[in-house]
Amino acid sequence: MADLIIKGGTVVNATGTAEADVVIDGERISALLAPGVADSIGIDGNASRVIDATGKYVIPGGIDAHTHMQLPFGGTQASDTFETGTTAAAWGGTTSIIDFAVQKYGERVEDGLGHWHELADGNCAIDYGFHQIIGGVDEESLKAMETLVDEGITSYKLFMAYPGVFYSDDAQILRAMQKARERGLLTMMHAENGPAIDVLAAQLAESGKTAPYFHGIARAWQMEEEATHRAIMLSDLTEAPLYIVHMSAKQAVEQVAWARDKGKNVFGETCPQYLYLSLEKQLGARSEEWGDFEGAKWVCSTPLRSEEEGHLEAMWQGLRTNDLQMVSTDHCPFCMKDQKELGRNDFRAIPNGIGSIEHRVDLLYQGVVDGRISLPRWVELISTTPARMFGLYGRKGVIQPGADADIVVYDPNGHTSIGVGKTHHMNMDHSAWEGFEIDGHVDVTISRGTVLVEDGRFTGTKGHGRFLKRDLTQYLV
Ligand code: URP
Ligand code: ZN
Ligand code: ZN
Repeated sequence: MADLIIKGGTVVNATGTAEADVVIDGERISALLAPGVADSIGIDGNASRVIDATGKYVIPGGIDAHTHMQLPFGGTQASDTFETGTTAAAWGGTTSIIDFAVQKYGERVEDGLGHWHELADGNCAIDYGFHQIIGGVDEESLKAMETLVDEGITSYKLFMAYPGVFYSDDAQILRAMQKARERGLLTMMHAENGPAIDVLAAQLAESGKTAPYFHGIARAWQMEEEATHRAIMLSDLTEAPLYIVHMSAKQAVEQVAWARDKGKNVFGETCPQYLYLSLEKQLGARSEEWGDFEGAKWVCSTPLRSEEEGHLEAMWQGLRTNDLQMVSTDHCPFCMKDQKELGRNDFRAIPNGIGSIEHRVDLLYQGVVDGRISLPRWVELISTTPARMFGLYGRKGVIQPGADADIVVYDPNGHTSIGVGKTHHMNMDHSAWEGFEIDGHVDVTISRGTVLVEDGRFTGTKGHGRFLKRDLTQYLV
């Protein structure tokens, strides 16, 4: 007897679409049946539960491979806990996250990782894995990198930005990449020239240009292009595969495209904010209440870029041509009150980050509605490639027998209004997406056979989510 059948829907995988009923036994998918077969072999009447998905898409649960719950940043910490952040994720059709365990300069990697396990264990509503931030490359952290794969942590992040906090210089990057190549770790890179940015930012602030808008001016696209190129060359030299995170500059994407055309093992990720939000929007975002400071809602790094200069369009193009392979959120929420406010008099003190974990699946679906990407490409970007890139494929990222029953029933005729007091379960006092109207709606979210969200209610529990020990990236050769 089946535990659950999702009937009558259109199953969408990265490989294509099919009319099929999905049969779930326990935590796994046990069969995909052609329409009518469940009735004819009598499974239907015996199933414990049937969900009617007529007229809806049945897709693998979203995998958000770039989140920062409780990240310490700029004297405060990201406002979502693992409980609030993963609950919001479930509302938005995401059933797995990969968060960043943090090692700062002067700390032991093992301690940072242990702390991240403590924060997440027993608190997550959905499954979760970790990348490891290496914020201080030295003999000790290089040694610690050797055991990460055994712990199911098969990717790590370096920063070419944030001197004095997470920054690595070229020598450190080279050594980390050599170690990554040896152990099969995927190098994730925050590619911005931090030391040069800090000079520009100081010059702006000293000349009285302290409003949030100037955050993006200091973090000029040249800083992203240059760092992206440098990271590519270091990866080429060491033969360590490279994944550039949160890309927003069209010139930086051109670098990734150039590297890929030359056969290099280089990948690029962008985020919803770089597809829909712009420097122009940030500049224009002024209300009586916040004055010029309302722009702090959109302070993130890499920064929002100019729509007029074609950066947003270039991100969409990259997704279409596969020069960019993934869309993650870089979910790093901060409230205005007491957090973003820290930088009221100086943009350099505004904690960097935007919260989007609840909206990624919906926002990317607009690409389908607008004719920018196909349905299978939507699924590939939000679920299948993240699974393949980060060693989860087969278990996650696909609707097929044997896979975890992480499934979303998505209504293309539904509607989602984004904003505080509407769809908003993230622990933030504002939404960077306020007023966005979405064609489409997450009707049901299922994680390993357990229904987490349906009929506009959250039925999941904190602690349902399990730690994901990940395999090596599928893109390693
Ligand atoms: O603005 C951002 N991206 N905040 C999170 C930290 C990072 O660099 O990913
Ligand atoms: Zn970053
Ligand atoms: Zn990030």
